Amino acid sequence: MSNPSLLILAGDGIGPEVMVEVRKIIDWFGSKRDLTIDVTEDLVGGAAYDKHGTPLHDDTMAHAQEVDAVLLGAVGGPAYDDLDFSVKPERGLLRLRKEMDLFANLRPAQCFDALADFSSLKKELVAGLDIMIVRELTSGSYFGEPRGIFEENGERVGINTQRYTESEIDRVARSAFELARKRDNRLCSVEKANVMESGILWREVVTKIGAEDYPDVELSHMYADNCAMQLVRNPKQFDTIVTDNLFGDILSDCAAMLTGSLGMLPSASLGVPMENGKPKAMYEPVHGSAPDIAGQGKANPCACILSFAMALRYSYDEGAEADRLEAAVEKVLADGVRTADLMQAGAAKPANTSEMGDAVIAA
Ligand code: NAI
Ligand code: MG
Repeated sequence: MSNPSLLILAGDGIGPEVMVEVRKIIDWFGSKRDLTIDVTEDLVGGAAYDKHGTPLHDDTMAHAQEVDAVLLGAVGGPAYDDLDFSVKPERGLLRLRKEMDLFANLRPAQCFDALADFSSLKKELVAGLDIMIVRELTSGSYFGEPRGIFEENGERVGINTQRYTESEIDRVARSAFELARKRDNRLCSVEKANVMESGILWREVVTKIGAEDYPDVELSHMYADNCAMQLVRNPKQFDTIVTDNLFGDILSDCAAMLTGSLGMLPSASLGVPMENGKPKAMYEPVHGSAPDIAGQGKANPCACILSFAMALRYSYDEGAEADRLEAAVEKVLADGVRTADLMQAGAAKPANTSEMGDAVIAA
């Protein structure tokens, strides 16, 4: 059998800096755990624009379709802010998501005990928190037609359409049920069926799939506004949450801040299964290119390292190795190793990016 493959697109700003640490970890798995991953690297975002005049070269796109997983750093930065919309760095990212049809965006919100003080909530509300939010990523109000700004009765009207087909709901719901099964077997489906027809259909489809194919998973339903309240009132009541594109965008950011720093947050975007049965997949830290700290060795590499851990789990069937890597990050934090973003101002000298990577490898 051939080795699992990974396409690394480090991108801009701190993307390449945090990716150096992931490369060290990939090498460690190769030499110490007999897990060899065939890595190729290419350009995305501003870096690709500088070389090719486009934020994602067609050859890169084609290669992304063939590998077992893509790991992306971050794109964008002030140097590219004035570019035409069609070649902006973000377009490279959106093209990958769209053409790979990555419809299920997984955003874990997990609170490492050592960082519970960083939460915007009281420590006891978040210690041990472990939520997985599954956001539908390729449909809903960000894509629905009609959309645009139109003239009507002498004034302008801005229109977006919240639109979901049964099959779009079906596939993201199944991804979420499968995930819930691997976790605490509880799924909360979130919409606003009280005021939106798309929500009524969403609830019907999810309920039917649950009854027919996942009777072992405990299914509940919640309105999105209540879910926002419950996330800040008692977040530990949730295990897996599935919701649409717009609500998922907001609720996943809300849940993320329960856990502390942007520098700790990974994500995965999954599509339909490939021939090997694994979904098409792209993994990326939630943070951006952080131009304010780029080039200074200050970036926390953990979000990207934990994104690679998700690749181990969901693309390479190496759940035990994913656990090993996540436990190493947890140990490093418990030992008090901190990049600057994980410290109160004026505290002891922070670890730099490579010291953090080295500490994870040592752990
Ligand atoms: P950002 O996530 O890059 O930075 C927000 C703040 O968090 C900054 O103060 C930054 O220093 C800090 N931060 C972020 N990641 C960190 C890490 N790993 N370690 C330590 N501190 C970290 O978001 P911002 O400033 O809104 O956007 C900057 C650029 O990144 C823009 O060009 C934006 O378009 C792009 N961006 C790209 C994303 C992506 O590639 N997925 C996502 C978000 C923004
Ligand atoms: Mg967002």
